Amino acid sequence: MGSILGLVSSGHLVALWLLCIQVKMGSVGGIGVNWGTQATHPLPPSTVVGMLKDNGFQKVKLFDADSDALNALSNTGIQVMVGIPNDLLNTLANSMEAAENWVAKNVSSHISTNGVDIRYVAVGNEPFLSTYNGSFLGTTLPALQNIQAALIKAGLSTLVKVTVPLNADVYETSTDLPSGGDFRADIHDLMLSIVKFLSENGAPFTVNIYPFISLYEDPNFPIAYAFFDSNSSAINDGGTIYKNVFDANHDTLVWALQKNGYENLSIIIGEIGWPTDGDKNANLKNAQQFNQGFMNRIIAGQGTPLRPGPLDAYLFSLVDEDAKSIQPGNFERHWGLFYFDGQPKYTLTMGTTSSNSLVPARGVQYLAQQWCIMSPSASLDDPQVEPSVNYACANADCTALGYGTSCGNLDARGNISYAFNSYYQQNNQLESACQFPNVSVITNKDPSTGDCKFRIMIKTVTSGVGLRSKLLMPAGLAMSVPVFLFTLV
Ligand SMILES: *[C@@H]1O[C@H](CO)[C@@H](O)[C@H](O)[C@H]1NC(C)=O
Ligand SMILES: *[C@@H]1O[C@H](CO)[C@@H](O)[C@H](O)[C@H]1NC(C)=O
Ligand SMILES: *[C@@H]1O[C@H](CO)[C@@H](O)[C@H](O)[C@H]1NC(C)=O
Ligand SMILES: *[C@@H]1O[C@H](CO)[C@@H](O)[C@H](O)[C@H]1NC(C)=O
Ligand SMILES: *[C@@H]1O[C@H](CO)[C@@H](O)[C@H](O)[C@H]1NC(C)=O
Ligand SMILES: *[C@@H]1O[C@H](CO)[C@@H](O)[C@H](O)[C@H]1NC(C)=O
Repeated sequence: MGSILGLVSSGHLVALWLLCIQVKMGSVGGIGVNWGTQATHPLPPSTVVGMLKDNGFQKVKLFDADSDALNALSNTGIQVMVGIPNDLLNTLANSMEAAENWVAKNVSSHISTNGVDIRYVAVGNEPFLSTYNGSFLGTTLPALQNIQAALIKAGLSTLVKVTVPLNADVYETSTDLPSGGDFRADIHDLMLSIVKFLSENGAPFTVNIYPFISLYEDPNFPIAYAFFDSNSSAINDGGTIYKNVFDANHDTLVWALQKNGYENLSIIIGEIGWPTDGDKNANLKNAQQFNQGFMNRIIAGQGTPLRPGPLDAYLFSLVDEDAKSIQPGNFERHWGLFYFDGQPKYTLTMGTTSSNSLVPARGVQYLAQQWCIMSPSASLDDPQVEPSVNYACANADCTALGYGTSCGNLDARGNISYAFNSYYQQNNQLESACQFPNVSVITNKDPSTGDCKFRIMIKTVTSGVGLRSKLLMPAGLAMSVPVFLFTLV
């Protein structure tokens, strides 16, 4: 398997569409974005939809079919891909009735009475990742078939198409070149059955492609090849020249489809993006370079060597999500074009608005301007420090600490303060969330330095009503919390 093609699993654990169809329904065009909600303090759906409109996103991809999100998308003209989380696949695979109920409640009603422009149902999310140990191999296709049958029964199958967002690790190449592409040997037959079903139903193949992961997993990966505007040396595949890993990876899929008789199946890029923190290659500069390079392709309507027409793609992602699993890596909570509060991270010309920069969320309300830090009078040697930091980091978010990250240059006290503040903010600035025994104190002076931001959370409907109170530390913290591996200081 050729690492130069970036054919590696993203391990991208998020909780949670075509040529003939485009001709029929009019070209989709534009750019889409993924809207994930695994955050301790998510923006209200109406605020998020305002951001989508202000920034000119024509399409949005969800990881579930949350009714608050769909209500906010009502009559906006934004095209929607709703999602079915992997943990529902088993039920939907085994019960036609469950599939009909899912479609009735989560698709039909929103289209007919709510004016939501639902175009796709994403059945599962990267269900064949190796981290799932094959758990969804038996249920994904039957669930796809049942949802398609339910859409037909509901009279929606012309408007709404099914698909399965897959990681690019479902295909591989035997030759280090795109032309060696085929579906992964261990799931080859299953992939053919899925591709056949999609093709027969005018549905697209959805793939998530992550050049960042190629770089993250392989220290020898040529960095320039991860970007679009680089002077990277090129790969010559029988006369076709590849100058970046996205094109090579995408066209490996095109070859796999072609080899198996589906050369015309439409492809949607379900997720593409670059994180800004949590790893030495995850920073604002790289993310801006990658996303601008990709957007330039979208604006120019330029595809890949084998599919030169416009790409149909959803950026990953809209906002940072601080409650995502960091099993794939610390970068996992930092994929947003915007921070968790809807503030843009960098300028990005998307060609969708008159502005050359991303438009921030409007009307965001913050908690008070106060932070929890390590008490100046506390000693680094205080035995309460270690268990307190471990507890804070285990229950909040310390992914901006570490080598090459935004807060990677803090001293030991800064590290400790960062951990305490994250815990305090995630717990809505409750006083009891800044009572690490004798070692913490609340301050009104912003401890942020340079790129290292000590964030203040936003007000949410649940703030202040004990959202995470079960996590609050008891008085005798040191005695009652497990001592995690002490990696932060
Ligand atoms: C509709 O979708 C939501 C969110 O994905 C899910 O919790 C619910 O079970 C679905 N409804 C039905 C009837 O399956
Ligand atoms: C997959 O298997 C590994 C090793 O047996 C195990 O640690 C892990 O929890 C399993 N993951 C899932 C999602 O079942
Ligand atoms: C690529 O090379 C050209 C010409 O030498 C140069 O102007 C440009 O800055 C280079 N781009 C990058 C990303 O290095
Ligand atoms: C793909 O589309 C082209 C042009 O319409 C057609 O000639 C060709 O037969 C199609 N290939 C398959 C495998 O359907
Ligand atoms: C906090 O400091 C006081 C005074 O130095 C001391 O009596 C007390 O035992 C300390 N508490 C903890 C939990 O360490
Ligand atoms: C701060 O924490 C990071 C992340 O664990 C660590 O790499 C660094 O060495 C710490 N800095 C100091 C001065 O303790």
